[in-house]
Amino acid sequence: MYRFRIQGPTPLEGEVKISGSKNASLAIIPAVILLDSPVLLRNVPDIEDVRTILSIMESLGATVVREARNDIRIDPTTINSHEVPYFLASRMRASIYTLGPLLVRFGKGVVYMPGGCSFGPRPIDFHIEGLKKMGVEITIEHGNIVASVKRFRSAHINLPFKSVGATIHLMTTAVRLKGIRTVISNAALEPEVVDTARFLNGAGARIYNAGYDEIIVEGVDRLELDEYEVIPDRIEAGSFAVAAAMAGRILLNGVVREHMVSTLDRLEEAGAVLQWVDERRLMVSRPEGRIRPLMIKTAPFPGFPTDMQAQFMAMLTVADGVSVIKEGIYPSRFHHAYELQRMGADIRVDHGEALVRGVDKLTGAIVNATDLRASISLVLAGIIAEGETIVENIEHIDRGYEEVENKFNSLGARIVREMSG
Ligand code: EPZ
Repeated sequence: MYRFRIQGPTPLEGEVKISGSKNASLAIIPAVILLDSPVLLRNVPDIEDVRTILSIMESLGATVVREARNDIRIDPTTINSHEVPYFLASRMRASIYTLGPLLVRFGKGVVYMPGGCSFGPRPIDFHIEGLKKMGVEITIEHGNIVASVKRFRSAHINLPFKSVGATIHLMTTAVRLKGIRTVISNAALEPEVVDTARFLNGAGARIYNAGYDEIIVEGVDRLELDEYEVIPDRIEAGSFAVAAAMAGRILLNGVVREHMVSTLDRLEEAGAVLQWVDERRLMVSRPEGRIRPLMIKTAPFPGFPTDMQAQFMAMLTVADGVSVIKEGIYPSRFHHAYELQRMGADIRVDHGEALVRGVDKLTGAIVNATDLRASISLVLAGIIAEGETIVENIEHIDRGYEEVENKFNSLGARIVREMSG
């Protein structure tokens, strides 16, 4: 078990390179199961969740070679198993993405039910209902999702909610079904959905309207692509943009403007100063005075991302007034609020809504990370807090942020990683 020991307050100043997108990588890597030849994936972040999904690919028989820190060559032609073992599948929800491709390849697939997270249940009913509409038979046996299909059929799937995972999973399952037409209505519009579609279309798939409400997939019978570069991580970029708004001036290198409109709009509303240096580099500076309070409600893209909620809450704890944060995606994604309160934050959480009354300053404390984005919000708070902050259980951070303490320390933070007690 590891923890961070953070001395605060420290100003942050400098440039940070944004890594490749965790959530696009976690979608694209399982889709490689459907390819007919090896592919080199570039700009893949070297983080725990990626190492887990690569271990899952190897457990299926794929050949995985790390040609450089962020360049991974995967050969799916050696895949010889249709089962994802518990000890791997249970580590990460994205393991569910392998089920559809395994069904396409083998006519069967067994994946352990993904667990819930600390911020509430993470059901997969939209995935299961969609696959059933495509002709798949599914039972749950001893915690495993056991699926088989004799013949896939064309289907029009209407998602009850703009689910990122269900959209990606069903779109990916549909691409290599020659003669089958799959329509996904109320599809998620996230950039990671679009990036997965661009990867598959680059390999010869026929996906239309990814990034819009109704995705149409005309199945093909062959998919090949030499290499593909994953998009930058808009949530990592957003996290460092918030860090700048809280503590100084950071040049973000590797930002895609259209992926971050809602995040950057709200940051400017809070008083941060944004200057685009060029198409991919954004300078974010803290306001002259105090951060201004906000009213935020998380929503599917292009709304305000739930994955930025914890980071904004850390920033708003020292705003000049009262902010309201409503969680429209995960109503119980507020564990970080209780930890921030140990640092002096004045936050009331009630039924999916947090009232954050700005205080003059935070003070360092021992706090507990509970999930990936909550962890980073506690690091941000520790950087501005007076005194020493200990963030326990930072393995959550390592799931989603590459070299996080080195990036912050290069900007002037004082973070030491150490073994917990
Ligand atoms: C993806 O999770 C992301 N994970 C999450 O990021 C992100 O918070 C979430 O999308 C929302 O943007 C990955 O991409 C690996 P959903 P996903 O399906 O696909 C409900 C991070 O920090 N739902 O869009 O699981 C669900 O409970 C992670 O990087 C069902 O009810 O999210 C939630 O309330 C955390 N049944 C809502 O839909 C289903 O079958 C949106 O979930 C599926 C989802």
